[in-house]
Amino acid sequence: MRTVWVTGGAGFIGSHLVRYLVREYPSYRIHTLDALTYAGNLENLADVLPAANHTFHKIDIANASAVQRLWHEAPPDIILNLAAESHVDRSILSPMDFVHTNVLGTITLLEHARQYWQGRSDVLFYQVSTDEVYGSLGEEGFFTEGSAYDPRSPYSASKAAADHFVRAYGHTYGIPYLISNCGNNYGPFQFPEKLIPLTISRLIERKSIPVYGQGQNMRDWIYVEDHVRAIVLLMEKAPRQRTYLIGAQNCRPNIEVVQLLCSLYDEITGEKDSDRLITFVQDRPGHDFRYAICPSPLLHQLGWKPHMSFEEGLRQTIQWYRANGSWLERVRSGAYQEYFQRQYGERLSSLQ
Ligand code: NAD
Ligand code: TYD
Repeated sequence: MRTVWVTGGAGFIGSHLVRYLVREYPSYRIHTLDALTYAGNLENLADVLPAANHTFHKIDIANASAVQRLWHEAPPDIILNLAAESHVDRSILSPMDFVHTNVLGTITLLEHARQYWQGRSDVLFYQVSTDEVYGSLGEEGFFTEGSAYDPRSPYSASKAAADHFVRAYGHTYGIPYLISNCGNNYGPFQFPEKLIPLTISRLIERKSIPVYGQGQNMRDWIYVEDHVRAIVLLMEKAPRQRTYLIGAQNCRPNIEVVQLLCSLYDEITGEKDSDRLITFVQDRPGHDFRYAICPSPLLHQLGWKPHMSFEEGLRQTIQWYRANGSWLERVRSGAYQEYFQRQYGERLSSLQ
């Protein structure tokens, strides 16, 4: 029997991970730690909140005394650290929130691991990170585990700092760790601020879809459940003190992703010419051009492969947002409107 903490478990990826662990590992005790920021939502965990092997705790991971209290109550054997401020545009507006959670929060957890895990080799600090720590690629090439860190946004700088601290604690204090750096996730329960859920939300509302610059920037997309399976496989099987890249070899220009969403939306709903909603707007400052991942060790040493095709994943994601209109309504109310205005107001004076 192992006790697993999932931080950020009420967020997008975290809620899929918690659901997977609760279902597949009935003998593990799963504890979700989440501060329930704008991006965290207990509704995302509704089906696993009553599960016998799962407990939810509203905790800020940067709050050392709260972390310590829980450590005494339910000492973890494994920490899967997903809690984060995760959106690049918000990091441009308010970088300090990113330092608080992504850097200080991670170090707060590591400090507890240092204190309580001394001499234990059967424990694991698993840092869920992003390919954005490697900076921006040109037209060619891929990130590998050997690529140099070159973060260029406040978000990626904060995630890079956290990764460095995890490695430093592993090296200095012998804490068993893993880090995985994944590409752009999409799927159900994603907050409608990131490209794919924002586009779907705007399609449903029949409102303009903001595409930065000329839409030529490229991202490497992966269905969230494929990411979750990779995390659990690495947690169970990977040699420790290593880094793995996770990607589905699915790198596409943003405009292609948005156009595909428009045509799938039309096919599903019978709407016509949704691509007329696409509006090119002022670019993001410091916008990284291209991310692309070579996940060779994950494929060839661990035997992982993605199960979901991009088109099918997008189709299912559109269907989920259409079927969960009340979830979308609730997360879009209140503070979301203020954020949307701040982020897009001037850019999108032409948007309805
Ligand atoms: P998300 O924004 O949907 O969820 C983040 C969760 O963390 C929320 O539930 C929020 O309430 C919680 N949280 C924030 N600050 C906290 C704090 N101080 N203490 C406790 N909980 C806090 O993010 P996501 O997209 O699910 O990403 C999860 C992790 O995966 C992040 O670490 C992110 O950097 C990483 N990641 C995300 C992607 C992606 O495409 N979304 C890709 C690669 C890596
Ligand atoms: P996003 O989903 O914010 O993820 P990240 O910046 O972490 O990769 O953005 C994905 C891509 O889509 C990125 O190149 C920026 C672009 N984008 C738009 O064109 N319009 C938007 O409204 C948003 C949110 C993103």
